[in-house]
Amino acid sequence: MTAVYPQQRRSAVPLLVPLLAGGLVMVALGVYGRLHTPTGFAIGPAGFSGALPMKAWLTTGAFVLAIVQVVSALSMWGKIGIRIPAGVHRWSGRLAFLLSVPVAFHCLYALGLQYDVPRVLVHSLLGCFFYGVFTAKMLALPRRGLPGWALPVLGGLAFTALVGLWLTSSFWFFTAIGVTL
Ligand code: HEM
Repeated sequence: MTAVYPQQRRSAVPLLVPLLAGGLVMVALGVYGRLHTPTGFAIGPAGFSGALPMKAWLTTGAFVLAIVQVVSALSMWGKIGIRIPAGVHRWSGRLAFLLSVPVAFHCLYALGLQYDVPRVLVHSLLGCFFYGVFTAKMLALPRRGLPGWALPVLGGLAFTALVGLWLTSSFWFFTAIGVTL
C-alpha cells in the first residue's frame, strides 16, 4: 500500500516576501549609491597593480563561477547528460557572491551610482539589480510550494545580471585598458 501524499499546492504567494526583500535591497543600494559622497578609495589592490585590475579579475572569477552555476543547475534538473553533485552548485554560487562583495563595496563606496556614461549607468543599475535578485533567490530557496519556474527564473536573472556586470566592467577594462594584473 503506497501512501498518497496530497499534491503540494503551488502558488506565487510564498514568493512575495522574497521578492519584496529583494526589491528593497535593490532600491537601498541605488539610493545609497546616489546619496553617499563617493570617497574615491575603498580597499587596497591586494597584490594587483591597482583597484581597477583587481576588480576586473575578481569579477571575472565570479563570472566563471556563475557559468559553473548554470551548468550544475542544468545537471541538477536533468537537462544535460552529466551528473554534477549539488554541492558544486551551492559552493560555486557562494564563492561567486563572495568574490563580488569587495568589488561592489569599492564600486558603491569609492565611486557611487554614476549615470554620465551609458555603459556605467547600465553597470550601476545591474549591480543593484544583481544583489536584489540574489537576495530574493536566497530567501525563496527554503520556501515550500514555490511555482516550478521560480528558482530557475531567479537563478537565470542573477546569472544574466552578472554577465551584464562583467561585460560593462571587466570586458570593457580588458579591451579598453588591457589585460593587466
Ligand atoms: C552595487 C552596485 C554597483 C554600482 C553602483 C557600481 C558602479 C560602478 C562604477 C560607477 C564604476 C566605474 C566605471 C567607470 O568609470 O569605468 C564601476 C566599476 C567597476 N565595477 Fe561596479 N558597480 C556596482 C556593482 C558591481 C558588481 C556587483 C561588480 C562585480 C560583480 C562590479 C564590477 C566592477 C568592475 C570590475 C569595475 C572596474 C571596471 C570599470 O571601471 O568599469 N560592480 N562600478
